[in-house]
Amino acid sequence: MAWQETAPGWERWRTQLAKNLSPVRTWLIRELGPKPGDTVLELCAGPGDTGFAAAEIVGERGRLLSTDFSAEMVEIARRRGSELGLRNVDYRVIDAERIELDADSVDGVLCQSGYMLVADTAAALSETRRVLRPGGRVALSVWGPPDRNPWASVPGRFLAERGHMQPPLPGEPGVFSMASEERIRELLAGAGFGPAGVQEVAVRWTFRDLDEYQRWLMDVSASLALTIGGLPAEEKTAFAARLTEAFVPFAADDGYEVPAVALCAVAS
Ligand SMILES: C[S@@+](CC[C@H](N)C(=O)[O-])C[C@H]1O[C@@H](n2cnc3c(N)ncnc32)[C@H](O)[C@@H]1O
Repeated sequence: MAWQETAPGWERWRTQLAKNLSPVRTWLIRELGPKPGDTVLELCAGPGDTGFAAAEIVGERGRLLSTDFSAEMVEIARRRGSELGLRNVDYRVIDAERIELDADSVDGVLCQSGYMLVADTAAALSETRRVLRPGGRVALSVWGPPDRNPWASVPGRFLAERGHMQPPLPGEPGVFSMASEERIRELLAGAGFGPAGVQEVAVRWTFRDLDEYQRWLMDVSASLALTIGGLPAEEKTAFAARLTEAFVPFAADDGYEVPAVALCAVAS
């Protein structure tokens, strides 16, 4: 995915993303359990809000390393961190597959909606284990199965059925590449982590109408933006009709509330 290109979109939707994802963020911070004075690394941080919740807890004696492999995303996090007045945060471009930090150098690692999109998730988790001090925890979230996440599976299925996009092959990175408890446990164990605690966390994406949902989708997903943006006019109309039909059950008083389920895991 061309994350550099989606960075402006992530900044535009930052407030709404942070609000809707707050149950996941709360789970991750609670299970990571950072303490004052700790060093916490956030991988794939995007706009950075999850790590910022940890920065408040680790306090002046502690440190948050807010990182992403997209320099544009790191700049968004830097702007947000300075708006919040946080002074205990380092902002760095870091690829989760090759973490440029010493072994045993951080107390905790956070990664929200990141590992499933990394080209080599097993490498990223091994690197995570390497930089964690003994006993240090990783707290991560990924998206659960497609049928519980229509916000992503409805457009994906439409585009695959109509031949506009190849569905990802097993093992390829993608929104659903870690969508089961077994897969998460297997990957964590393979990277040298002990038994993982895994839980479902439900969230809701709220939209004023389906136009807003489509704008959001195009803004936060580079691959969908390219594919949907390049559709002929009649296919765009068919796409809009599919959404209208599929999202009827999610109509709410003031727009749409589209359900989503994250799988959250903690391990050390
Ligand atoms: C779906 S966004 C999640 C952002 C943020 N964690 C959140 O939940 O709002 C995924 C992020 O992972 C980053 N990313 C993808 N592959 C990466 C890699 N190999 N190393 C570091 N960051 C990566 C992208 O640039 C993007 O910011």
